[in-house]
Amino acid sequence: MRDRYTNLQIALHWAIVLMIPIQYLTGGSIDRTHHAVHMGIEPSAWDILQHKVHNYCGMAIGALMALRLIVRLRSERTAFPSDVMGVVALALHWAFYAAIICQAALGLVASYLTFRVAPLHVAGAWIILGMVALHVAAAFWHALVKRDDVLERMLPRKN
Ligand code: HEM
Ligand code: HEM
Repeated sequence: MRDRYTNLQIALHWAIVLMIPIQYLTGGSIDRTHHAVHMGIEPSAWDILQHKVHNYCGMAIGALMALRLIVRLRSERTAFPSDVMGVVALALHWAFYAAIICQAALGLVASYLTFRVAPLHVAGAWIILGMVALHVAAAFWHALVKRDDVLERMLPRKN
């Protein structure tokens, strides 16, 4: 077992971290675009642009997360403590793969097949937000309170 993540895993982790906030910043434009169309009004160009960014960035996130899952399954495992907190952390990591891939798939279905799944996508956004809050709090707890090497495992090597 290795004691840190590979450079590819680290690059994919931080690329996705940068892309997820874009989804929260652009998500609201979709409702506004649809509302304008239903009211017979021309949607604003800014909302249409955000709508496109949301769809394409979301699809890229889904693809990168799927790639990351394959890399994770094929790489040598990173060591984890076998206590309760270690098991909870590992469970949250797997839940992230499931939640983010499902979220991108639900967005795709809502946009191109049936809008009936949209409420699940909206609920998914809140669930992922809660998971990110827990995950980030845990990362800071390790870095600032426990002062161990957990955050370092996910940072690029200096040498
Ligand atoms: C993991 C990636 C994604 C995240 C985190 C995400 C997040 C969000 C958020 C926060 C909203 C706004 C919810 C609200 O109005 O309260 C939203 C709406 C929406 N997203 Fe995404 N999204 C993702 C991927 C996608 C993809 C790939 C598509 C389509 C190709 C998509 C299509 C939509 C649609 C159609 C809505 C409007 C739903 C509604 O207003 O009821 N999303 N998304
Ligand atoms: C959108 C936000 C984020 C998502 C979806 C996410 C997702 C993940 C996933 C799935 C893993 C497990 C890696 C694996 O085993 O394959 C992981 C590990 C990790 N993440 Fe994040 N992460 C996010 C944000 C952050 C942020 C903001 C930080 C730091 C402040 C962070 C720090 C870490 C650390 C330190 C690990 C390694 C933990 C360990 O294995 O001991 N993450 N993250």
